[in-house]
Amino acid sequence: MSDSTNQSTDWQFAQASSEAYEELFVPVIFSPWAERLIDRATIQDGDHVLDIACGTGIVARLATPLVGDTGFVVGVDDDAGMLEVATEIAAEEQLPIEWMEADAADLSFSEEQFDIVLCQQGLPFFEDPILALREMHRVVDADGRVLLNVGRPLEYQPGWEILAESLSRHIGEKWGAMMHGPFPSWDQDELRRMAYEAGIENVSITIDISSVRFPSVEGFITRQAATSPLGQPIGDISQEVRDELIQEVRDELEGYIDDDGVIFPFESYVVEAYQ
Ligand SMILES: C[S@@+](CC[C@H](N)C(=O)[O-])C[C@H]1O[C@@H](n2cnc3c(N)ncnc32)[C@H](O)[C@@H]1O
Repeated sequence: MSDSTNQSTDWQFAQASSEAYEELFVPVIFSPWAERLIDRATIQDGDHVLDIACGTGIVARLATPLVGDTGFVVGVDDDAGMLEVATEIAAEEQLPIEWMEADAADLSFSEEQFDIVLCQQGLPFFEDPILALREMHRVVDADGRVLLNVGRPLEYQPGWEILAESLSRHIGEKWGAMMHGPFPSWDQDELRRMAYEAGIENVSITIDISSVRFPSVEGFITRQAATSPLGQPIGDISQEVRDELIQEVRDELEGYIDDDGVIFPFESYVVEAYQ
């Protein structure tokens, strides 16, 4: 596997970019998870599907061919940059998806407007996840379903846990703590409690384990830097400290390194809510 980002200039990424997210993270992380979520959703011809926190739109794109001419798909995100990339790709692929800039906790849709509401790796990022769950539940039909995948806590994500520890040691606690963002400490009981508080009574939670592969440990870290605020602090440290950080992550991830690069598990809860 070639590693086009494995160049020293790639440390100069100034800020998180939605183009970088689509190019570097969607194929290796979010597209495989989207396929798994879509498989579970069993979308039917004619379904009205809502993708909450759609990002650059991978879930909505996979859902669209399944709803046929009589169904429709709407993608909602509060980040205009993500939606710009989503709009461009959908136009290129001639997919009739409606994109909307909105907060997941404040949707403008009427009650029971959708058959299926999907939310891939979005819940941890919402300021008020319970309100967002309440909204998802409100807009789904009585016979419909809400399906979310949510990263399990950092202790179940060896790649990111090791990176978090090294970032804390070499750059500062704040940057290590940032790695908890996508992997909050929620366990199944907590997710169930949040759902009940949002008015959802019927919830099923399962654990799903996928893997994620990068062409090298450095490629893993450069991608992380390019798609998050980490770009700045990693770019700012000296080459010597950066080399130490990469070497430390490489040593700690030794058991996951092979001839094709590095591979490690990515664990998620899949939360399914129905009436
Ligand atoms: C990890 S990304 C997942 C994106 C997409 N679901 C995917 O699978 O590629 C999280 C997304 O949540 C969006 N987001 C964060 N807070 C939000 C909010 N309050 N309302 C809507 N979207 C939000 C971000 O803009 C980002 O696109």
